[in-house]
Amino acid sequence: MAKRLDDSNDRSSVQEYVIAATDGARLLESLRQLGSKYAEINDPVYLNAIPRLADLLPPDLTDHLARLRDRRSTAALLIRGMPLQVTAPTPTHWREWRPEDTLLHDFWLTLVCGQLGEIFSFTSLQEGSLVEDILPIEGLEDAQLGLSSLGGFDFHVDDPFDEDRCDFFGLIAMRNPDRTETMLAAIDDADLSGLDTEVLFEPRFLIQVDSEHLEGMGITDEVTVRRPVLNGSRSAPGLCLDWTYTDAVPGDTRAQAGLADLRSRMEAVMTTLALEPGDLLLVDNYRSVHGRRPFRPRYDGADRWLRHAMVTLDLGRSLARRSSAEDRRIGPLSLAAMQGSIGSRDT
Ligand SMILES: [Fe+2]
Repeated sequence: MAKRLDDSNDRSSVQEYVIAATDGARLLESLRQLGSKYAEINDPVYLNAIPRLADLLPPDLTDHLARLRDRRSTAALLIRGMPLQVTAPTPTHWREWRPEDTLLHDFWLTLVCGQLGEIFSFTSLQEGSLVEDILPIEGLEDAQLGLSSLGGFDFHVDDPFDEDRCDFFGLIAMRNPDRTETMLAAIDDADLSGLDTEVLFEPRFLIQVDSEHLEGMGITDEVTVRRPVLNGSRSAPGLCLDWTYTDAVPGDTRAQAGLADLRSRMEAVMTTLALEPGDLLLVDNYRSVHGRRPFRPRYDGADRWLRHAMVTLDLGRSLARRSSAEDRRIGPLSLAAMQGSIGSRDT
């Protein structure tokens, strides 16, 4: 069954699908069988078989996934009701994660995400793991990253500085003890009338590559790329920005005003939701921005913990950045190839 989650503004950027109890029990058994057959989600035989495993899912869920993939639905789908529970403590760092602790969650996440497109990762994020941890790490409380806590995480699309960023991503909640809210805003819901879209479609903005990617690439300097923040169709544009890391080119007051106006229109259509254990949230990274409210970390094994997987509609596009056609991990950005788009906040 499906319904729309409506926020106080009567917007409906998230659709909710609840798995029936009988389907949940059957799916759990299927996940156990996948775990026995493939042992881990990194098995290329499993990853290549995912589209053929659609029959394991309830047919109406498959229909919802197809509509999300083809952008015929709301920009996010929340799948609830899977009887998945984690018993292992939340790791203190993604390096401490143990595959056996999240096996069924990871098979569920990848089985569903893989119906939208091809699962991939970046070698510069968590050593290229196809499913990444989102958990608070001591020392990163105020970083604008999924590993932060107290500082919150402002509106962004995932990896806006990278042309090979995901089309969709999935988040599965292991635990969320304080019901910390995820924020979403879809451009489909926003009133764009009178917005200076002309300037927003022009490469008059500097987007900083985030510190997690830079660290993964072994780069210590700040790197910014010059980009438009809207792209695609003029009537139904896509978003490409991270509000913390995106500025107008210095001195470009028209671009600055357009960016601020876009932000206020996206804030006006924000929806919030608190993921519960076992919830799986699928988000269109083209049509929406997302973020997370601040929360107080515990570092006692009971912290908020999500797992994250990315999907592309065109894996072939990134072939030159991968070690082989079978390798789903996209290598570092070529700074040389970006010459002309690299900018500096000081100039
Ligand atoms: Fe994100």
